[in-house]
Amino acid sequence: MAILSILKFPDPTLKKVSLPVENITGDTVRLVQDIVETMYAAPGVGLAAPQIGMLQRIIVIDIDYENPGKNLIKLVNPEIRRAEGELIWEEGCLSVADFTAEVKRAERVEVVGLNEKEQEVKVEGEGLLAVALQHEIDHLDGKLFIDRISRLKRELYTRRLKKMLRSGKPRPESPGLMI
Ligand code: NI
Repeated sequence: MAILSILKFPDPTLKKVSLPVENITGDTVRLVQDIVETMYAAPGVGLAAPQIGMLQRIIVIDIDYENPGKNLIKLVNPEIRRAEGELIWEEGCLSVADFTAEVKRAERVEVVGLNEKEQEVKVEGEGLLAVALQHEIDHLDGKLFIDRISRLKRELYTRRLKKMLRSGKPRPESPGLMI
């Protein structure tokens, strides 16, 4: 088990599409555990495998930060089966330093995927859980929440980030919940 480092935008790996997991092996189970530990250490409420450089369709989510582990969700090959309604949520991401923005998402989603025993599981979520499920599945498709905001806002952020990187100072984390 290990806490791994989280890739940050503009790392090109974050733009890649992850591949489905064909067989859930001992290595997969260990990888899921590493993603969970890395998420809690960050701390964040969600993390996807590509954020630690593994292009596999695996996500973990735990929005119940007061009782860590109690409502932990681990999904292999997750897919959105149903999406309803609309909501706007102020999102941040462990891979996007020092920035949050309002993003429009479905209000309720039903997601199916596999657990570590290769059994099909269904997760229904609304509010923050729906946002987290959509945000993490976006990571598997090489998408960040900043790809879902206006071009103007994104350009303002990338300009600010470049300046920050040139200054050589460490990148500050964003305030609030990181997914
Ligand atoms: Ni994220």
